[in-house]
Amino acid sequence: MPAPADLANTPVPADAGLLSRLLLAWYDRHARRLAWRARPGEAADPYRVWLSEIMLQQTTVAAVDAYFRDFVVRWPRVEDLAAARLDDVLTAWAGLGYYARARNLHRCAIAVAGDHGGRFPEDEAALKRLPGIGDYTAAAIAAIAFGRPAAVMDGNVERVMARLLADPTPLPAAKPRLKAALRRLVPPSRPGDFAQAMMDLGAVICTPRKPRCVLCPWQQPCRARAGGMAEALPTKVEKAERPTRRGVAFWAMAPTGAVLLRRRPERGLLGGMMEFPSSPWRTGGMPDLGEVLDHAPAVGQWRLLGGRVRHTFTHFHLELTVAAACLPAPPEGIWVLPEALGDHALPTLMRKVAGHAIAQLSRS
Ligand code: ADE
Repeated sequence: MPAPADLANTPVPADAGLLSRLLLAWYDRHARRLAWRARPGEAADPYRVWLSEIMLQQTTVAAVDAYFRDFVVRWPRVEDLAAARLDDVLTAWAGLGYYARARNLHRCAIAVAGDHGGRFPEDEAALKRLPGIGDYTAAAIAAIAFGRPAAVMDGNVERVMARLLADPTPLPAAKPRLKAALRRLVPPSRPGDFAQAMMDLGAVICTPRKPRCVLCPWQQPCRARAGGMAEALPTKVEKAERPTRRGVAFWAMAPTGAVLLRRRPERGLLGGMMEFPSSPWRTGGMPDLGEVLDHAPAVGQWRLLGGRVRHTFTHFHLELTVAAACLPAPPEGIWVLPEALGDHALPTLMRKVAGHAIAQLSRS
């Protein structure tokens, strides 16, 4: 990897001013209309920019849209979100995944409302001191909300830059070079539009497969296009295969029809979210019901329902079978009628478990 002094001179394949002008002219005509974006001529609202950037980490624009709209109706200002109960925030977030983001979102709102008089700090270093804001998000907020000339590089932008430069270095090793080149392109006048234009270009034109090079504002300067290798870039180091873990979830029913939930520990995967009790999730074969009955929430006539629930987390696949029992004397706990499960902070995996149990029980 070149030394940092060399990185500052990372060449770009055309005049930097020309590249940014081409991109901004394209953006002026083709920008996606997204709920969190200020309209042309409108000032950006740092709260909406921050909220959308946190939601968009590891999540698609399409998945975020409805959540974003719901959040800003319920909590229109950062002070409103700071005053919300964490459990309400987790419930509103349920289904978006990566739940540590929701906890940090709430902590960050409390910090901004409490320590910063409700105003987000404007520079990247101060933004990064807030919960849940890392390099990427700090740069995005600084550029989009405050017009700072920050280089905003997510996965889409990495791809665009790797192709523009025809950089064959596999990711993630190529990142410092790509970022250094990106820094040279950020225009002093419209850094926020430039950042969003790069995101749109990556999402709509410079797609991972079958890039639409004929529509690209950078088709002339793009080195990968010139070399006929746009689709082959960026190269990536192969990731290790995800292991599969397995376990049994327990669908415990009270005579009222309510089912038993419990809250997961604050720390770790799905931290603080609700779940149906289950046996530990282990690699290896699917455990027999008899092997895991001591993890059941109560003694009862447990029987396995047919089929399996499958879900993929960042680091592993998960397969659960579901065991059900009616408990004539239900133990203490959080008992919820199936139709009210949506009022609780149930992650997607647990919604799948509920859907599966309800479907299987209605057959039998
Ligand atoms: N992905 C992350 N941030 C985004 C934004 N502001 N607009 C579109 N896509 C994004």
